[in-house]
Amino acid sequence: MIDPITQKLVLNNRLLTCSKFVTNGGIACDVGTDHAYLASYLVKQKISRRVFACDIAKGPLEAANATVTKLGLQDKVTLILSDGLDNVPDEGVTDVIIAGMGGELIQDIVLRAKWLKNGVNLVLQPQTKAAELRTALCKNGFEIKTEKACRDRKFIYTVINASYTGKVDHLNEVEAITGKLDLSDPTAKEYIKTVAARLKSSAFGIARSKDEAQREEAKKLADLANKLCALAEEK
Ligand SMILES: C[S@@+](CC[C@H](N)C(=O)[O-])C[C@H]1O[C@@H](n2cnc3c(N)ncnc32)[C@H](O)[C@@H]1O
Repeated sequence: MIDPITQKLVLNNRLLTCSKFVTNGGIACDVGTDHAYLASYLVKQKISRRVFACDIAKGPLEAANATVTKLGLQDKVTLILSDGLDNVPDEGVTDVIIAGMGGELIQDIVLRAKWLKNGVNLVLQPQTKAAELRTALCKNGFEIKTEKACRDRKFIYTVINASYTGKVDHLNEVEAITGKLDLSDPTAKEYIKTVAARLKSSAFGIARSKDEAQREEAKKLADLANKLCALAEEK
């Protein structure tokens, strides 16, 4: 946000964590830029030389334009109306950041843009379905290089850093949830425990179902949750 008193750009911890994975001196593309806070931060901090700030909707792009104009960054931040990366000129783009969207939408945007296979650095912050996103990335030759959990007010997120290597990997159900998180990091432990709690609650919801398949599913979910808790405790 732009601080109403100092008029300075202040980034929340979630977007700040994303910014840490962006290549120094590169050209970045922020997909679903909304207010262009991350895009503006990247050029203001001289992390990126230039940023394409894209959004599918005109309203967010108007908000982005207001931020960029207020900060005088029009020569470094280019606003583009685009569904995913469809209208983004791929030449020279070193980094693509997709933050604050569901994992399935992120997956769709990444897999649709074939030019990402040229080794573009991906910074992905799913709001939901992170396990599905990791699974799809690895199945399609994208390698998860590293991952960092972060807390932003009362929510906990993960930021995935990946790029295409062509190496196909099939993650098991635990790997799909833990990804490349460093489980000795207290925030990563907290993230895993949050996912485990969600699984336990789903298991609880169907444990007394009349349907045997549902009761089996409840057992599987509870087992997975217990495995995750044990992992988070042991490191
Ligand atoms: C919740 S906001 C996230 C904004 C910012 N990236 C962040 O993390 O704070 C999601 C933004 O993504 C945009 N969006 C949704 N689907 C999109 C798509 N297919 N292509 C580009 N932008 C999209 C929405 O219009 C909205 O501005």
